[in-house]
Amino acid sequence: MKFFIDTANLDQIKEAYDMGVLDGVTTNPSLMAKEGIKGVDNQRKHYVEICNIVQGDVSAEVIATEYEGMIKEGEELAALNPHIVVKVPCIADGIKAIKYFTSKGIRTNCTLVFSVGQALLAAKAGATYVSPFVGRLDDICEDGIALVGKIVEMYRYYGYTTQVLAASIRHTAHIMQCIEVGADVATCPLSAIKGLLNHPLTDSGLKKFLEDYKRVNG
Ligand code: E4P
Repeated sequence: MKFFIDTANLDQIKEAYDMGVLDGVTTNPSLMAKEGIKGVDNQRKHYVEICNIVQGDVSAEVIATEYEGMIKEGEELAALNPHIVVKVPCIADGIKAIKYFTSKGIRTNCTLVFSVGQALLAAKAGATYVSPFVGRLDDICEDGIALVGKIVEMYRYYGYTTQVLAASIRHTAHIMQCIEVGADVATCPLSAIKGLLNHPLTDSGLKKFLEDYKRVNG
């Protein structure tokens, strides 16, 4: 399974990349706003900075919600760097835009996906990635991980090549559950990725090894 980091924070992106396990980055307008990045020029500079850190896919989301605007914005974003994947919301104009981008060889991430039906439309339009939002479904007492599993099965059954990118991952257990249902990618906060390292037997085992070493070697 590939790991993307779900942030626009350059320090966190560097830290995850330096661990040697990072395959890409996802951003969205809320994550860009959280970093205080204002205005089109600054946003685009920021995407390029992210691409310069990571050797992997970087999702940059369009703000337009009608077809023509999405095409213009998506083509401009894709031209910034070969790592850019144009992130498009799962609405009618978005599906049409994904179909267009696919025909032009521009890679896409169909975002805000909450049902198998939406994921089917994204795959039929040729999306590179589909992003089911796990945490936001859990927030309303639905089963986000179950949706990821159903989309994986549906794509396998029909032979779609769109990759299932589990998004809105909130904690380490979500990552483990994504592995169990066969997600292609999980995009996670840095804390959730680092949480995979936690095991009390690793900590106590290391402590004992170092104590034994010191006892003999001083
Ligand atoms: C990433 O592609 C999504 O925009 C993001 O994971 C949403 O996460 P949230 O539900 O925690 O805002």
